[in-house]
Amino acid sequence: MNSVSPSLISPDIPTQPQVSTPLKLGIMASGSGSNFEAVAQAIQNGQLNAQIQVLIYNNPDAYAAVRADKWNIKSVLINHRDYKYRKDLDKQIVQTLRSHDVEWVIMAGWMRLATQTLIDAFPDKIINIHPSLLPSFKGVGAIEQAIEAGVKITGCTVHLVCLEMDSGKILMQAAVPVLPDDNPDTLHTRIQIQEHRILPAAIGLAAKG
Ligand code: GAR
Repeated sequence: MNSVSPSLISPDIPTQPQVSTPLKLGIMASGSGSNFEAVAQAIQNGQLNAQIQVLIYNNPDAYAAVRADKWNIKSVLINHRDYKYRKDLDKQIVQTLRSHDVEWVIMAGWMRLATQTLIDAFPDKIINIHPSLLPSFKGVGAIEQAIEAGVKITGCTVHLVCLEMDSGKILMQAAVPVLPDDNPDTLHTRIQIQEHRILPAAIGLAAKG
């Protein structure tokens, strides 16, 4: 069996700490930050042995920064609009993550593609959550894509990040039925319930591996 094997659909989420020393996480978010908060909550509940060193956000009005304040977690705005080249944005991100002693990078609703600069700085230690059962429905609008395709089951995936978008090794998935009267908002709400379960669990599993 692989050290980090894809979990079954709707996995039982471990409630014990996965590693003996707290993981040092850097979280990256672009929007609401509910997944960021789910990780913070899992740490507080003792389900994940980790500490969040810093939140990086790229949109000045991202609600994730408000959540960080609430949790007393340092947040740093790195606005992608200030960088002409993606690799320069990622250089600044790497510098910020390193200056906060980050070991694992968690993209929790981070809506920018990673360049080789970021991937090389944290090899096999960047984790992303995506609102579909990959490899289906990559990229933006994953939930709209699922509704449009008429699938009866979709879900969410936690995976390692590689250069190709939404294509790295799958760590954990959860399935969510698509109901006949679903719209993107109702479906996203139910997907997020599962995201908040599997993201902290997958971080623990990845680190253990
Ligand atoms: C989440 O549903 C996440 O899966 C998605 O953005 C949302 C962020 O929500 N990520 C992607 O679409 C990445 N391709 P949040 O800000 O409330 O955590």
